[in-house]
Amino acid sequence: MSDLLTVVDHPLVQHKLTLMRRVETSTGQFRTLLREISHLLAYEVTRDLPVVEVPTETPMGPMQAPQLDGKKLALVSILRAGNGLLDGVLDLIPSARVGFVGLYRDEETLQPVQYYCKLPDALEERLVIAVDPMLATGNSSAAAVDLLKEAGARNIRFLCLLAAPEGIARMQEAHPDVPIITASVDEKLNEQGYIVPGLGDAGDRMFGTK
Ligand code: URA
Repeated sequence: MSDLLTVVDHPLVQHKLTLMRRVETSTGQFRTLLREISHLLAYEVTRDLPVVEVPTETPMGPMQAPQLDGKKLALVSILRAGNGLLDGVLDLIPSARVGFVGLYRDEETLQPVQYYCKLPDALEERLVIAVDPMLATGNSSAAAVDLLKEAGARNIRFLCLLAAPEGIARMQEAHPDVPIITASVDEKLNEQGYIVPGLGDAGDRMFGTK
């Protein structure tokens, strides 16, 4: 993937995102929409994966048919909101290896604090897709990518639903080699580090917490 920033402007993605933003959208609807949108984003983030032609027997005879090449890719969910995107991406890539990075945001400093990290092996040989719906300050995203690189990952993409310009700048400064794929670049962050207009707290909205 050569573009450092891809905004997926497909009408279905944009329509579903609008429904997700609405304050009246219920937890159940939000989760369903996130899963659906994850499928469409997964399609985009994997569109240039290498394939190899393999001998294949159809009921009509033999052919050379394409299948995904290389080692199984790794999906890494940045907890907890990342799990909402993870499930949908896994629907499309069920054999992917899965890792989790737990970071919470210190509400005063807005800095990430790590509390969990479990990653698949041989990250250096895999395409690693880090997933987190909200690229806000970029602090936890950049810290999560630091962890992935420390674990050996060399080919990383960052998949989110919404991004703030501040978060994109932070990520591109810290990790200029990591393409970002998002459905929207919103206007700004507020003083609490929330994306405006955004959709609120993605974790709370998908899990029904406050
Ligand atoms: N995390 C969220 O869930 N929402 C934001 O707007 C920013 C960070």
